[in-house]
Amino acid sequence: MSGFDKHWLDLREAADHTARDGDLRKRVVDHVTRAGEGALVVDLGAGTGSTFRALSPEALHWRWRLVDNDPKLLAEARNRHDDAARIEYIEAHLDDISAEVFSDATLVMASALFDLVSESFLARLIAQLSQTEAGLYAALNYDGVCRWDDVHPMDEEVVAAFNSHQRRDKGFGPSLGPSAAPVLSSLLEDQGFQVTMAASPWRLDPTHAALQRQFISGMATAVMETELLGKEEIDDWCAARLVRLESSGGYVGHWDVFALR
Ligand SMILES: C[S@@+](CC[C@H](N)C(=O)[O-])C[C@H]1O[C@@H](n2cnc3c(N)ncnc32)[C@H](O)[C@@H]1O
Repeated sequence: MSGFDKHWLDLREAADHTARDGDLRKRVVDHVTRAGEGALVVDLGAGTGSTFRALSPEALHWRWRLVDNDPKLLAEARNRHDDAARIEYIEAHLDDISAEVFSDATLVMASALFDLVSESFLARLIAQLSQTEAGLYAALNYDGVCRWDDVHPMDEEVVAAFNSHQRRDKGFGPSLGPSAAPVLSSLLEDQGFQVTMAASPWRLDPTHAALQRQFISGMATAVMETELLGKEEIDDWCAARLVRLESSGGYVGHWDVFALR
């Protein structure tokens, strides 16, 4: 079990799909389409298949290999898509996968994943990838920027504490957190990949109230765990933010990265 529940993944999916950079998405689709009918793409940390949905309908022409260590999320992906597409489901811890999983892939993908991993994991993965012909498309890497339309005096401190929590170990060693996209880009360039990066922020408004509620509450819980701020300050900040959900919006920064040999 990974601790990511399908309700949270569903809640964020619409914002994720809107946030993806459209030019990069088009380049990804063109690249895989050029490889021909049945080209294989591998989605690491696939969850319930959000990347597949983000790249559909074009994705229906490709073969997919969804890799995740959470059997419940993979079962949900299978429930949603087993009839519709050529998808293989692989339950594995990413630390244990061999290069064979993506040796015949046109493209390896990961969405909302690489901010959870460590630099050493990423370096190993990219070294493995560089032994293949596969490119990499890593979308929605959190960059540490959270802003709201109406400022609260505690915002900066809360976000700083949240970002320090984002760097904690999520199962791969110390997480890259907000550094994921620049570190990924530089590791890829070191291995000879040509890299393009594009911003893919969530732009939240009152129509995203449910997502904002969960995000803000999750942020408060994470900040509490850091013990960098007092419980009362965090509770006040959280209550003030939740009261404004129906009238205010915000910005959460992410980056998409596309790299080819
Ligand atoms: C933030 S979710 C993103 C899911 C999906 N890519 C999406 O965009 O909705 C991170 C995913 O990585 C998976 N994951 C986390 N640690 C993992 C590990 N060590 N091995 C395999 N999958 C892992 C989780 O189960 C979860 O599905």
